[in-house]
Amino acid sequence: MSPASLTKIEHSAYWTPNITSFKTSARLHLQHFLVQNTLGFLLDEEIEKSITASSPLRVADLGCGNGIWLTELSSELLRRGMPAQLDGYDINPVNFPHTVHLPPSVSLKKLDILLEELPSDLLGTYDIVHVQGFTSLVVNSNVTPLLSVVLAFLKPGGFLQWVEVPTDDLVVESPSPTTTKIACEKITESLKGIAQAQGIVGDWVASLDQCLLTHCFDSVRMYAKEKRQQDFQAWTEDYLMVLEELALFFPSRKQDPQAPITREAWEELFSDAVGETLQGVVVHQRKLSIAVGRKPT
Ligand SMILES: C[S@@+](CC[C@H](N)C(=O)[O-])C[C@H]1O[C@@H](n2cnc3c(N)ncnc32)[C@H](O)[C@@H]1O
Repeated sequence: MSPASLTKIEHSAYWTPNITSFKTSARLHLQHFLVQNTLGFLLDEEIEKSITASSPLRVADLGCGNGIWLTELSSELLRRGMPAQLDGYDINPVNFPHTVHLPPSVSLKKLDILLEELPSDLLGTYDIVHVQGFTSLVVNSNVTPLLSVVLAFLKPGGFLQWVEVPTDDLVVESPSPTTTKIACEKITESLKGIAQAQGIVGDWVASLDQCLLTHCFDSVRMYAKEKRQQDFQAWTEDYLMVLEELALFFPSRKQDPQAPITREAWEELFSDAVGETLQGVVVHQRKLSIAVGRKPT
């Protein structure tokens, strides 16, 4: 096995631990509505303009989590009388709603989009492919594996909509000079260091439009949307939920007393960070980045 594929396997394994807690899905629900508060749309304006009701719109959401973006899009399209087939793919189906709760136009399937062979009957069939929140899946700033999947799924002329959180831009803000934010800064820096050691850096987000051009997408556009200040606390809560989930990945002191970070040390730092956020400290990225491009016809 080559070192590159080993990295990939270990990395994907991060997403498939046996976390059956409802909290991951709750976090993704919260994140979805915060993203919507920021963007104000499910589909970019140009993509919207391209949609017609003449034939069922086919949309794929890669790494769809609990499918919330697709189920909301389904309601929106239904309201406008647009027929659609909306398919979500995720390596970990644990957060999928039960099928009885899904709108008829939505189907969610387990698929490792980076390692498994893509279903041949789906290649070149989608009008729109949606990607959101993939910073922790792009290793060594290499977006080629993901963009290859996107291009394989899209029809010629089909659109990619990629919404990303620029992780490089994470800021820790205190409401006043006397309110300490040391623990929040420390845990944020620790997470950055852990991610960097895994080859996960957010530097590529700023040049996502260039990445799309390099991969021969047409009509490439990229823009940013500022987060609303009134949402900063909720973004912080969402981030705290990620930090809390991560505790599972550190060995306990008993398992590995020499570990650079033990679970107990992480939990202690996390608890201090939560204490600071209760005093008004917020941790958030200032904006979201949106990149749009079309597969050449
Ligand atoms: C940060 S979450 C984003 C979820 C969703 N796109 C959103 O924005 O709410 C990343 C998602 O990608 C999924 N994922 C990770 N690696 C994957 C892979 N190789 N193939 C398919 N899905 C993957 C995870 O299980 C998780 O649901």
